[in-house]
Amino acid sequence: MNEKLNEKIDLFPRTRFMGSKQKLLRFIYENVSDIKGEKVLDAFSGSGCVSYLFKAMGKEVETNDFLKYSFVIALATIENNYYKLSQNDIKLLLKDNKSHEGFISRTFEGLYFTDIDNLFLDQTYANIELLENPYKKALALASLARACVKKRPRGIFTYVGMRYDDGRNDIKLSMKEHFKKSIAQFNSCVFDNGRKNRAFNKDIFNLDDADYDIVYFDPPYCSLYSDNDYSRRYHFVEGLMSNWEHVKINPKTKTKKFSRFLSPFDSKQSVYDAFERIFKKFEDSVLIVSYSSNSLPTFEEMIEIMKKYKSKVVVEEFNHKYSFGNQKNDLENNTVKEYLFIGKD
Ligand SMILES: C[S@@+](CC[C@H](N)C(=O)[O-])C[C@H]1O[C@@H](n2cnc3c(N)ncnc32)[C@H](O)[C@@H]1O
Repeated sequence: MNEKLNEKIDLFPRTRFMGSKQKLLRFIYENVSDIKGEKVLDAFSGSGCVSYLFKAMGKEVETNDFLKYSFVIALATIENNYYKLSQNDIKLLLKDNKSHEGFISRTFEGLYFTDIDNLFLDQTYANIELLENPYKKALALASLARACVKKRPRGIFTYVGMRYDDGRNDIKLSMKEHFKKSIAQFNSCVFDNGRKNRAFNKDIFNLDDADYDIVYFDPPYCSLYSDNDYSRRYHFVEGLMSNWEHVKINPKTKTKKFSRFLSPFDSKQSVYDAFERIFKKFEDSVLIVSYSSNSLPTFEEMIEIMKKYKSKVVVEEFNHKYSFGNQKNDLENNTVKEYLFIGKD
């Protein structure tokens, strides 16, 4: 990877997103840079970092994820080629605003953040609505979500209170400080790669078929050891993306979460068929899958499934230590092999 590209991908804001490939971007690059093709789909974009790598490589990139949280990040950093938040925009975002209804302060009182931080979130969301440009709005929302994740011990919303507070500086910093820092980071990663890139927010099975040269799949890893439910971990920031308009909180839950977003990649019973269906859907493209050694389908099974749709399958391997380990069993499975399955012709 040349130095320019190396520096470019380092600009992408780190988000601690579960399963993020940020640490594997150079490995992915080494194995995809020779593949011919201009138009790429990142079918499960998550944090957006792999889409950003493809964008930096000069590809025409389309992204998709069923989380609005992921979609907003992709809108801000992949589809958006030009817009940044100006000093005036930032002033507007930080001003006092009494026009909000205090939804966050009321609903999440005492659960994740202090009253002051909750009020800041209510107020800032109301200010974000004053921005007219959709890309500026996305930059501000992505920055606000990042502030919440950074300030939250472990970056997740599966528990209430502060039981995992390890005194890190990130926890001490106010929400407002995190927001300002995140804006600077998101602003600095906006660039034009000369292509018309697009972001989508759909279940992958409902995405319209299009002529992609390359499709990159990084679905949730179906593991017998830990659950991979993204909406349960990130429900707070997911709701925040629309002030909870696209979801319905179950008031009986302790964490004030909404029903999970069901994905066939979540269970052993449905994951095999799910891979068959996505490979079939995109069988005319080069297929690239990120997957790990402690997941289902197994290594051999994945090759077998891919071979039904592609005559040439190669597998590249990277030894990767998981940094996101919060299940007891992760200790035993600490060294997980990360693979790239590449199917051509
Ligand atoms: C392993 S993560 C992707 C990580 C990403 N490559 C990165 O580096 O940050 C898997 C993503 O798949 C998304 N997802 C799960 N099921 C989906 C579905 N049926 N359709 C679209 N997205 C889905 C999740 O929301 C999650 O963001």
